[in-house]
Amino acid sequence: MRSTALWSAISATLISASSLRQTISKSQRRGSTPGNIDILNSFAALTKPNSEPPPFEVREIPGKGIGLIANRTIQRGEIVMQYTPTLVVQLGPHIDLPASDREAFYQDAVNQLPTARREVFVAQYGKDIYTKIDRNAFRMFINGQNPYSGHLDAFPEVSRLNHDCRPNLNSRIENITHTTTAVRSISPGEELTISYIDGLLPPHSRQERLADWGFNCTCSLCSSPPSEVAASDARIRAIKDLEEELDKAVGGGDLTTEMGERLVRLFKEERLETYIGHAYTKAALIYAMFGVEAKAREYAGLAADAMAMDLGEEAGDVVATSMRELAERPGQHWA
Ligand SMILES: *[C@@H]1O[C@H](CO)[C@@H](O)[C@H](O)[C@H]1NC(C)=O
Ligand SMILES: *[C@@H]1O[C@H](CO)[C@@H](O)[C@H](O)[C@H]1NC(C)=O
Ligand SMILES: *[C@@H]1O[C@H](CO)[C@@H](O)[C@H](O)[C@H]1NC(C)=O
Repeated sequence: MRSTALWSAISATLISASSLRQTISKSQRRGSTPGNIDILNSFAALTKPNSEPPPFEVREIPGKGIGLIANRTIQRGEIVMQYTPTLVVQLGPHIDLPASDREAFYQDAVNQLPTARREVFVAQYGKDIYTKIDRNAFRMFINGQNPYSGHLDAFPEVSRLNHDCRPNLNSRIENITHTTTAVRSISPGEELTISYIDGLLPPHSRQERLADWGFNCTCSLCSSPPSEVAASDARIRAIKDLEEELDKAVGGGDLTTEMGERLVRLFKEERLETYIGHAYTKAALIYAMFGVEAKAREYAGLAADAMAMDLGEEAGDVVATSMRELAERPGQHWA
């Protein structure tokens, strides 16, 4: 099979979708901090308010501190929260400044926040401001071409979401807006969660990473019986093996449409809806390679929808457009 070019196109599609938010404002490129501030200020403020009233209650959760509990059914795809940052710090100085200078500098910034903002900021996990930013903030690049454009954005309301290795929410930043979306339907009484780490890590590595936040994970996966944790670990390995096998198969081996189906199934069984856009994309393109148009189109739609949730509408459009284009070509090559 001469499918390497098509497979490279899949990767290019995924990369260009993923890097969208990092290349924003390329044209406004400037090196200096005042330049970065100009860029930040140029982004539109939130246009849509948070859903009112919120679909959750803030509650004390035994062993976890504060958590957010759904108080009505939340549909898959529903936006649960949307915020612009309370505090933005440049990544370079955050890492490089001497600790004492840094803390004084941060304190000065925090003191300037309006009282209500300051209170939610200070209530976050962390013994000092540096740790509060380091453990809770989200990374954002306001200009992909400029290495000094990496910033950490504090969204204190978002950081009240506890961790789950199999979260029910996805979060993304577009420009300066942080959006949290339900990746599956959520029932009243269920805790709302995001993942602080890479969910495809094996159990012991997940626990090691999570120690940075000072807790032992008791999430829906980690607290399940050992046999289920082992089954999950086996699926994670199966996903990695299958992805490798797919890359090899595309280079001239035995590619089958069943492999794409299996990848999607593994992500679903593993409740990794937050990553499933990539599996749908691969499944769609494998069907396209084999000229199975109806299936290719079905998975392409699912991929665009999942990528939009993961990375925003613009990324969803990138995936949708390139998949449509790719899906139209292979029929001629593959017959
Ligand atoms: C981000 O900002 C850029 C430049 O202001 C704008 O063109 C783009 O539409 C914005 N994207 C989103 C998702 O708001
Ligand atoms: C859910 O809780 C919020 C408070 O966070 C409240 O405003 C809202 O009315 C509640 N919704 C339901 C359906 O009880
Ligand atoms: C996590 O578990 C280990 C081993 O059981 C224990 O030593 C440690 O104190 C626990 N950490 C926290 C933050 O509870």
